[in-house]
Amino acid sequence: MGVASNEPHLLRAARGEVLSRPPVWMMRQAGRYMKAYRDLREKYPSFRERSEIPEVAIEVSLQPWRAFQPDGVILFSDIVTPLPGIGIEMDIAEGKGPIIHQPIRTIEQVNALRPLNPDESLPFIRTILQALRQEVGNQSTVLGFVGAPWTLAAYAVEGKGSKTYSVIKNMAFSDPTVLHLLLDKLSESIAIYIRHQIDCGAQVVQMFDSWAGQLSPQDYDTFALPYQQKVFAAVKQTHPDTPLILLVSGSAGVLERMGKSGADIVSVDWTVDMADARQRLGKTMKVQGNLDPGVLFGSQEFIRDRIYDTVKKAGNWGHILNLGHGVLPETPEENVAFFFETAKNLNLATV
Ligand code: CP3
Repeated sequence: MGVASNEPHLLRAARGEVLSRPPVWMMRQAGRYMKAYRDLREKYPSFRERSEIPEVAIEVSLQPWRAFQPDGVILFSDIVTPLPGIGIEMDIAEGKGPIIHQPIRTIEQVNALRPLNPDESLPFIRTILQALRQEVGNQSTVLGFVGAPWTLAAYAVEGKGSKTYSVIKNMAFSDPTVLHLLLDKLSESIAIYIRHQIDCGAQVVQMFDSWAGQLSPQDYDTFALPYQQKVFAAVKQTHPDTPLILLVSGSAGVLERMGKSGADIVSVDWTVDMADARQRLGKTMKVQGNLDPGVLFGSQEFIRDRIYDTVKKAGNWGHILNLGHGVLPETPEENVAFFFETAKNLNLATV
C-alpha cells in the first residue's frame, strides 16, 4: 500500500497509482452461476423486474460483493435498459438476451427518437447507485456501465442478437446515412447516461462495444471509433476525473484503435497475450483483463497459474485484473471464490 488514501483500490489503480497487487472484479459477477441469483430469479422471473425494481437490483448487485468482496461492484442492469427512454421499446428474454419488437430501419423512426432524460425514464438508477455507494463505502469501487453506439445500434436495427449482423451491415454498406444519424443520436444519449451515472455515484464507468469486433478495422474506424470518441469526449468535458473503460469483444484486430477512443483503460480479452497488449497499447494506456472465462473450469492450480501469468505480464502499474469477458453461467462458485481469494492475496513483489 502507498501513502494512506481513503480511495478504494480499484479507483487508485484506475488513476495510475502503483500498487502491491492489481484490483480485481469480474464482468457478469452477478448472475446465473450464483445460487443466490438463481433463487431470486424464481421470485422475480422477468429481467426487467430484477434490474428495475431498486431493492431487487441492489440485492443482486451486492450478492457477489457479500460472497467474494471484489474490488469493484457493478450496477446490475443491461446495456439496453436506457432504450425505452429514447423511444425504443425492448424486453430481455430468458436465455436469448434483448428483443426489440419494432426494429429501427427508417429515417422516420430515427427522427422520432428523443434524447434520454434519465431521472424521468430511469428513476431506479439513482436509487440503486446511491445505495451501492452507501453499502460498500471505501471498501470497493462502484462501477456504472453503458452500451456503445455501434452495439446498441446493432440491437436496435437487428431487433435481437445476431451471428452475422446482416441487417445492420446491409444498412452500413448500402445506405449509411440513416445509420450515422442513429449512431449520432445514440452517442448523445449515452453521454447523458454516463454523466448521470457518475452524478448518482458511479466512480468508474465501462462502455461495452461488444459487437464492434464484428467489424473490419476499416469499418470500425467508420462506424464504431468516431462514436466511442464522441461519447468519451463529451463525458470528459464535464467529468474529467472519472476513469472510463472500453470493452470490445474480439479485440485483437482493433486493439490499437481502442486506444484512440479516449478511454483511460482498455479492456483486453484473451485473444491477445497480455504482454503483447501492453506493447501494442504503449506505456501510458491502462489495461483490464484478460483471463479466458473458461479458465475457471480448470483446477485451482491452473487458475492460480493463469492469474500469476497475467499479472506478471501486465506489471505493477495501470492494470485491473478481470476476465476478458463475462463469467460463464456454468462456472462453479467455489472457483470464482478461489479466483478472488488468490487475486486479493497476491503480492506483485513475490509472484
Ligand atoms: O457485469 C455485471 O455483473 C452486470 C450485469 C450485466 C448484464 N448485462 C446483466 C445481464 C452487464 C454488464 C450486461 C451488459 C450486456 N448486456 C452486454 C455487454 C457485455 C457483453 O456480454 O458483451 C450485452 C451484449 C448485453 C445484452 C444481453 N443481455 C445479452 C447478450 C444477454 C444474455 C442472454 C443470455 O441469457 O445468455 C442479456 C441478458 C442478461 N443481462 C443476463 C444478465 C445477467 C442474463 C439473463 C439472466 O441472468 O437472467
